[in-house]
Order: sequence, then structure tokens, then C-alpha cells
Amino acid sequence: MSRGRQRADLLINHASTLVTMSPSIPHTGSMMSQVAVIRDGAVAVSEGRITAVGKTTEVEASVEIGPSTTVLDANGKTVTPGLVDPHTHLVFGGWRADEFGCLLRGVPYKQLLAEGKGIQQTVRATREASFMALVEKAMPVLDWMVRWGVTTVEIKSGYGLELETELKQLNVIRQLMQMTTLDLIPTFLGAHAIPPEYKDRPDEYISFLVNVMLPLISERHLAEFVDVFCEPGVFTPSQSETLLKAAKDQGFGLKIHADEMESSGGAELAARLGATSADHLMAASDEGLDAMARAGVIAVILPGTSLVLRKPAANARRMIEKGLAVAIATDFNPGSCPVQTLPLVMSLACLLCGMTPEEALCAATINAAFACGRGNVVGSLEVGKQADIVIFNAPDLSYIPYRVGTNLAEVVIKKGKIVSRSQFKMGVIQGVG
Ligand code: NIG
Ligand code: FE
Repeated sequence: MSRGRQRADLLINHASTLVTMSPSIPHTGSMMSQVAVIRDGAVAVSEGRITAVGKTTEVEASVEIGPSTTVLDANGKTVTPGLVDPHTHLVFGGWRADEFGCLLRGVPYKQLLAEGKGIQQTVRATREASFMALVEKAMPVLDWMVRWGVTTVEIKSGYGLELETELKQLNVIRQLMQMTTLDLIPTFLGAHAIPPEYKDRPDEYISFLVNVMLPLISERHLAEFVDVFCEPGVFTPSQSETLLKAAKDQGFGLKIHADEMESSGGAELAARLGATSADHLMAASDEGLDAMARAGVIAVILPGTSLVLRKPAANARRMIEKGLAVAIATDFNPGSCPVQTLPLVMSLACLLCGMTPEEALCAATINAAFACGRGNVVGSLEVGKQADIVIFNAPDLSYIPYRVGTNLAEVVIKKGKIVSRSQFKMGVIQGVG
């Protein structure tokens, strides 16, 4: 349970509900709901890492608690791993409030894209935006996310669709990494749409991505993952495969926007290539989902997007029954999902996708961590892991999705340091101002 009597920098004790989300593997199928809960639980932290987890009496006996130890009494609270948002498009210029009205009048999302609106509108605004304007726009969103309990976020490029602006977006993410306490994971989504310069020449654009952009991004270590919007009218499975195979050869992890509106083989492709995740999956075939389960591809569902596009949400129940590991994410972007609040999306996962609160928390912690390549570092509260922890003002974990749209995150801890505290009073706090 602990590594000897190490001095604790931080001790959270007497948690009414402590959810560890162990073990540190993707939680598949029925494992997603088998969430081990420790009553009167405690977590001890030294030098940013977890040194003990268990019952308060056991943890207190196993670590040294001195005058410099910050002690947070979590009686009446729920303590969980820091939340992980494994799919966002957080760096962009402009907004698309004008299109919201179109969506409400029933204009299909793909029609907007075909008319040069949608993603293309954000591409124009992002090309025009300065580097600093993009940084300044993204920072408050990250601050918002932290305050709601999110400690790790994946961010995609994809609003440049040309070398200069794609690099600008990826460099903005790199800059944000220096400025925020959050861990950020950069993903290259140069294949988000066909740029106007390559209209009717998508194969040539894919060749450009493979031969010019990927080597440069790899050389500059600007992205960990490569993603593609595989969808009829955007990129075909064959074009997606060409890009992703090249990305794999160059050492990138793989992600796919798969089967969002129509089933076109995206889930099957993700399984064949051993992608880390396939995301959206509202229209995924049974065969595709089965293949993903066999290949260990994480299914990332994005119920906020279904809500905004007014489409039937992904059927998480079916995915879990098929033995998949399901994660949830905001998909925050200015078009299909201007939702930046992961706990709200956890509520939607329960209300629209058939998840239980236990499954939703699993999907937003350990499975989300594996969906963005951080499963061995964050996502669960285990000895040796990074101390990313949230204390929710909730006696039980079900309150987190049940109190729809309410921020219950009271204390947010990143790498052992308190990075957000709401105005609500804690039971007992020592050592913090
Ligand atoms: O994941 N589906 C493709 N891409 C994004 C939407 C981006 C946008 O509309 O700006 C998504 O929903
Ligand atoms: Fe997306």
C-alpha cells in the first residue's frame, strides 16, 4: 500500500467516498462499472506523486505527517483521479454562433461544410489570427477546465490545413504547455477537411501531409498523435489509411474521427491499424465495434456533439456490452460542440448514451487517460502515479453527473499542488492559505 514512511507533502483524509479507478489498465466492458470505493479513504502525496492510498487509518500509519504536511479533510466529499479530456479542438480563431441558428433550423452539418462554412469558416479565422491571439483565447478555456476538475487535455490542430497555420496551432499548444498547470497532449489533425487550395484533389493533399507535414512535425516533436476525419464527403477510409499508415511508420500514435454521421468503415480501420482510439462512433457498425474490442482500441464518445447537432447519441451501453473500453470527451470546438465542461458531458453520457455514473467516471478518468496515451501516468489513484486528484463536494460519486451543469469540484490538485479551490469551505484545512 505504501513505500515506507515517507514524509507526506499532502494528505487527503476521511473521504466519504474515495474512488481510485485502479487497476491502471483500460477498463473494458463490465469492468467499467465495477468501481472500487473506499469509505473513510485517504491519499498521501510526496513530491507530486502518490505515496499511499487506502483507509485513512492505514494511510496515516504508513506515511510521516509533519508540520509542513497540508491536510485536507474530505469528510462528506468524493475524491477521484483528476479528470481527463481526451478529445478537444481547443485552439481556434473566431466563433460560429451564426451557424447555431442554421443547425437549429435543421441545416445539416455536412451541408454547411460543403458550402464552405463549418470547419472552413474556422480555418479562415484561424489562419488570420495571430499566435498570441490564439494563446490568449485558449488560456481562459483551460482555466475553466481546471476549475471543473480536469487536469489533462488532448488538443488537436486542424484549423490551418496548410503548413504555416498547422504549425502555428501546434506551436500554440506548445506555448500553452508552458503557461498552464495542465498536461496537454498535442494531436496533428491536418486531415480535418479538404483545404480550398486542394478542392477536388484530396489525394494530393494526403500526399502533401504524408511527405511534407508529417516529417516536419515529427522532427520538431510537435504532436504525439495523428488524427483524420474519416467520413463520406471528407476523407475516405483509403485516404485515411494512407495517412495513418505513414503516421504510424513515423512513430505517431493514431486516432480517427470515425463513423460520426455515416458508417464508412472508420471503426474497422482503427482496429486494423491498431489505433489508440476511434472517436464519435455514432454510426459505427457492429462489426466495426467488435473489431475495435478485439484490437483494444478505446471508443471515445462525444455526447455533447450529438446534443448540439441534434443527432442520436452513441450507444455506450452497446459498446460496453461488446466489451469495449469507452472514454468520454468534450470535443470542444466552435462548431459541432461549443461545450467545454467535461462533468456536463459526463451527465450527457448518462442521460443520452446509457452509461451509469460509475461508468461515466471511469470513462472520464482511467479510460480517457489511456485514450490519449497517459494511462500509465494519470487516470487512477495508485502508488507511484502522478498526484492529479479532485475533491468533489459530493457525498457519493453519483452526484457528479446527477447535479447536471453544477460545478462540484471543490479542490483540484495537479502534480501534488492545489491548482484550484472553490469558494466553498472545506471541513479542515491546514497548511494552505
Ligand atoms: O469532432 N467532425 C469533425 N470535427 C469536429 C468538428 C469541428 C468543427 O465543427 O469545427 C468534431 O465534431
Ligand atoms: Fe472532434
